[in-house]
Amino acid sequence: MHIHNLSINNSILNAFLAEIRSKDIQKEYMRFRRNIERIGEILAYEMSKSLTYKAQTLETPLATTTINLMLNNIVLCSILRAGLPLHNGLLNYFDSAENAFVSAYRKHKKDSESFEISVDYLACPKLENKTLILADPMLATGQSILATLEALKPFGIPKEIHLVAVIGAKEGIDDVSKKVPENTHLWIAAIDPVLNSKGYIIPGLGDAGDLAFGQKLQS
Ligand code: URA
Repeated sequence: MHIHNLSINNSILNAFLAEIRSKDIQKEYMRFRRNIERIGEILAYEMSKSLTYKAQTLETPLATTTINLMLNNIVLCSILRAGLPLHNGLLNYFDSAENAFVSAYRKHKKDSESFEISVDYLACPKLENKTLILADPMLATGQSILATLEALKPFGIPKEIHLVAVIGAKEGIDDVSKKVPENTHLWIAAIDPVLNSKGYIIPGLGDAGDLAFGQKLQS
């Protein structure tokens, strides 16, 4: 897997990451969602540099010119519910992408911190030969991404897969890396060192779904 960690260079991205991580600033739901969306826009821009382009001719009011435009047929897939603000950010740039949604959530075992990933709802167009972008803001254990890729198999084999995450844990990224096709790309804003016993990324930011949309009852 090709890992593109945008934090290795300083940029305005750092300011948005600081706001979603700060325990005081992150409490404002709208600001949290908008910052995730802004990070999605930056990740989309960076990823767009790796796509396929072809020269197209167009007329300005004054002359004819050519410009290289993207050829990829993109399907943008997000994992509900935490993925929605990141999805919006990506969709702000990939205007004509098709969209897929999956509900993959942590189903906790009774009286235990362990969990399995449950995939319930899935809405997806054909994926055959298309560019699949799978967005999951927090790549913790990587199990949601792997369960989603498995659930998407009946929809066809994409030409290429781009995973997009805001923060990932090193061990989850290593595990995903071993299980996805070699030419898969990961576009990520920051990589953190560890997971805690509950599968949360440390230092991370907490629960991205709760911070974007409010707390939920544990299932
Ligand atoms: N999901 C989150 O929202 N946060 C984590 O740290 C891990 C998974």
